[in-house]
Amino acid sequence: MAVKHYLQFRDLARDEYDYLFHRTAVIKERFSRYQPYHPLADRTLAMIFEKSSTRTRLSFEAGMHQLGGSAIYLNTRDTQLGRGEPVEDAAEVISRMVDIVMIRTFEQEIIERFASHSRVPVINGLTNEYHPCQILADIYTYIETRGSIQGKTVAWIGDSNNMCNTWLQAAEILDFNVHVSTPPGYEVEPERANLYGTDHYESFADPMDACRDADLVTTDVWTSMGFEAENAVRQKAFADWRVDADMMRVARSDALFMHCLPAHRGEEVDAEVIDGPQSVVWEEAANRLHAQKALMEYLLLGRVDA
Ligand code: CP
Ligand code: NVA
Repeated sequence: MAVKHYLQFRDLARDEYDYLFHRTAVIKERFSRYQPYHPLADRTLAMIFEKSSTRTRLSFEAGMHQLGGSAIYLNTRDTQLGRGEPVEDAAEVISRMVDIVMIRTFEQEIIERFASHSRVPVINGLTNEYHPCQILADIYTYIETRGSIQGKTVAWIGDSNNMCNTWLQAAEILDFNVHVSTPPGYEVEPERANLYGTDHYESFADPMDACRDADLVTTDVWTSMGFEAENAVRQKAFADWRVDADMMRVARSDALFMHCLPAHRGEEVDAEVIDGPQSVVWEEAANRLHAQKALMEYLLLGRVDA
């Protein structure tokens, strides 16, 4: 049977997401009662980081431990990957030693190449193009807080980056709408986002218009990892794309605010929004832990009824 990878959001179908959101709730509830659940006993996760991380590392490492397995942290600096070992060779070797691999890297092409030579499931822990584990947790958080996301409107304000691309893929699969507002020159590139069509998103020149009647307002840093050289230019270009109280006011009165974190208060979001009553950023971050446990369980064991 072919190995199942999770390299972008559209690698799973809608019924698989329904299952994963259900499993996330089960696993989270069990965890909240301190009830041990070790379906991945003796399994090992290798985590390869070519970029920094707090949440992704912690949630995968703690999550694997909580499921009874263990996790090994590798980074470019300390491994032969940083000294030019071909990614294909690394995949052949690493996937003979562990049961599942998570990678955070630069171009999506790198993780695709790794996966094509891996004997075990590979999970995208963020690439320049996508951040599927984050959106998995974000949508779970929306459902947990407000119910089904189908037919709802998500306002994406800022950069058309890995988070934005993944929201757009998710909208097609789970049937909701995304209102995107980016500064000129930073618009969505449908090919890079790997979209089927354009009917689940709409672009707005004015971020206020994108936020109008939205059920969820979300944003991310103006300068993603790997794009630091553009920071000065981006600070100027994105100045009007800061999520503020006025934007939240034109959204629905029960709208949520999300941010994948780390955040820069006073840049992409005002403190009164991210620290305000509509913000669910801490629940969002915490749900990485449970959503990814459900994901690892699914990739390794398939559907379970435990
Ligand atoms: N949101 C997120 O992926 O955070 P880290 O960069 O800390 O892993
Ligand atoms: N878009 C950000 C997300 C960080 C979790 C980045 O890629 O740096």
